[in-house]
Amino acid sequence: MKKEIIILIILFISFGLAYFFKEKTDTSNRILKRVEKNIYEKYDFYKEENKNRYELYKITNPTLKTKDIVLRVNIGLDHSFYTNTKEVTTFDKLMLVNKYNYVSNDFQVKDLVKVEEYARENMYLNKECMEAFVKMAKDAEALGYHIRAISTYRTYDYQKKLYENYAKKDGIEKADTYSARPGFSEHHTGLAIDIDNIKLSYDNFENTNEFNWIKDNAYKYGFILRYPKDNTITGYIYEPWHYRYVGIDIATYIYNHQITFDEYYYEFIEKNK
Ligand code: DAL
Ligand code: ZN
Repeated sequence: MKKEIIILIILFISFGLAYFFKEKTDTSNRILKRVEKNIYEKYDFYKEENKNRYELYKITNPTLKTKDIVLRVNIGLDHSFYTNTKEVTTFDKLMLVNKYNYVSNDFQVKDLVKVEEYARENMYLNKECMEAFVKMAKDAEALGYHIRAISTYRTYDYQKKLYENYAKKDGIEKADTYSARPGFSEHHTGLAIDIDNIKLSYDNFENTNEFNWIKDNAYKYGFILRYPKDNTITGYIYEPWHYRYVGIDIATYIYNHQITFDEYYYEFIEKNK
């Protein structure tokens, strides 16, 4: 009899302890879940519909800061490039064209004008962008730096030819690291310029005095270096020659914070759309 009572007491205590610890674990999990959700929610660019994607992205990218997780997922970086794409239909100085956002082959650039100075033949840009570029080129010239626009607005068909030639020469995988697929090039917007110093182009521009000046002065005219060194956002290699017009205020912010336009767009522009 005594033995049975002891067994009953032991059983009772065991069940009690098991229940106590289960409750405790459930409560901790609930708290953890709530805290996790709040981590993402505190940003005003948080999107409820992306919640599961943030959680998954955190698992595969455990060292990223929470803000970067939210921004990168909003950009679309948890999907492969050129998947889950969206068409941008209207011209806007702050439009985003990247590997997830494209324009169609009849996209119209607002105020497309010829660049009459500091450019190769038959270069066209959005007027505001052209004026900012000419001002920058003039100021550079006064300091002894010679900059010139060597590629500006491109049609869909032109980009298609370019990309197909690169893909033939280097294969799709490599071509995708330096050339946009047709429709996905910022050059379709009339807001992007490739620049050289008249003597050295593209691959060598980084080694010129002109680049040394422009990298720290372009923002004063509203331009940003669109594909920075070692970036893991744009999907393109470093392009010291490619500048994008966004206006002085935003260019200054991007220059000071050393971020990409994609990040700026999803932090400040997209949420107001
Ligand atoms: N080289 C840039 C990424 C373009 O093709 O638009
Ligand atoms: Zn370019």
